[in-house]
Amino acid sequence: MQAKGIFKEMSPYKPGKQTEDVKREYGLEKIVKLASNENPFGYSNKVDQVIEQEANHFEIYPDGYATELRDILSEDLGVERDQLVFGCGADELIDIICRTFLEPGTNTIIARPTFPQYKHNALIQGASVKEVPLINGYHDLQKMLSEVDQSTKIIWLCSPNNPTGCLINDQSLQNFLTQCPKDVLVVLDEAYHDYAVASDKPNTLNLLDKYPNLIILRTFSKVYGLAGLRVGFGIASLSIIEALNIARGPFNTTRLAQQAAIAAYKDSDFVKRTVEETIKNKQTFTLFLDQVGLEYYDSEANFVFVKLPVSGDLLFDYLIKNGFIVRSGEALGHPNGVRITIGNSEDMVELQDKIKLFLDKYTEDGISE
Ligand SMILES: Cc1ncc(COP(=O)(O)O)c(C=O)c1O
Repeated sequence: MQAKGIFKEMSPYKPGKQTEDVKREYGLEKIVKLASNENPFGYSNKVDQVIEQEANHFEIYPDGYATELRDILSEDLGVERDQLVFGCGADELIDIICRTFLEPGTNTIIARPTFPQYKHNALIQGASVKEVPLINGYHDLQKMLSEVDQSTKIIWLCSPNNPTGCLINDQSLQNFLTQCPKDVLVVLDEAYHDYAVASDKPNTLNLLDKYPNLIILRTFSKVYGLAGLRVGFGIASLSIIEALNIARGPFNTTRLAQQAAIAAYKDSDFVKRTVEETIKNKQTFTLFLDQVGLEYYDSEANFVFVKLPVSGDLLFDYLIKNGFIVRSGEALGHPNGVRITIGNSEDMVELQDKIKLFLDKYTEDGISE
């Protein structure tokens, strides 16, 4: 069987290495995974209680409308129930958006580097992808707008951006939305929005009424710590959501995942503690980077992209042998650097020691590829 022509130029998504594989490969007992921006503090213990209660009647399909979760979010976010769509992670929503709006002959505009699934799913739909380089980690919004033409269907904004962590501020976002043609869908991926505390962070929910071409994506995988259960959601105007529901599979989030998401969402103390601890550990880490003379992008997320004068693979290889999995920039479209998820304080202290040893070793040996 021959897959679509474009598949010859594509390959499957390569996730960060799994802990058990690394333990086996390097004969290590302890591995700290700081590669996929997961929550190092786990998830609310209220989730465990719910899972225990819900672990029955798996023969019954879940509620495809996710009614209970929908009701809680719509009330809390101040949007209509039908302004929400749920997915098997934000990943699935990205796929659904591409299937709904893109086809051969259309194009879509993304930043470079940014979250790779926008491009991946757009190419599968036969659309062409225009990539606009970031400026010092930030979206070049004016250049992105200047790339819009008659065939442009979607512009993707990732804020905070993965892998740089830079946030699009209120003023810049509003300027952008005002200028963006109303028949171009703007996808604002806010997977990391809970971690952003900058004073100029936009209140994006307030923009939905004014910009009916805007969709916001959020997820339970990051601050809520439910990456393994796969729940993400989109918030947009009724007409966008109606269209997405046509492409959405009828039972795309499980009952366990919906109930876990409800429990996690209600535990605002857990979320608050996660954010506070992450920000504190991020500050300590960036202070360390300053001290050792390594540069990094401004991050409003739960990760920091550390710039290196050499390939990120060098530091990645060194750290993995020493029990830390990070993400090499080579895999993220930014070869000279690594993206590091902010872990708990104990692990971060140990990580800093390892980075220091790496720098000492390579300064002695002459840091080169
Ligand atoms: C920017 C961004 N968007 C979306 C996702 C996908 O999230 P989910 O786990 O909800 O599919 C990620 C995951 O890393 C991400 O970094």
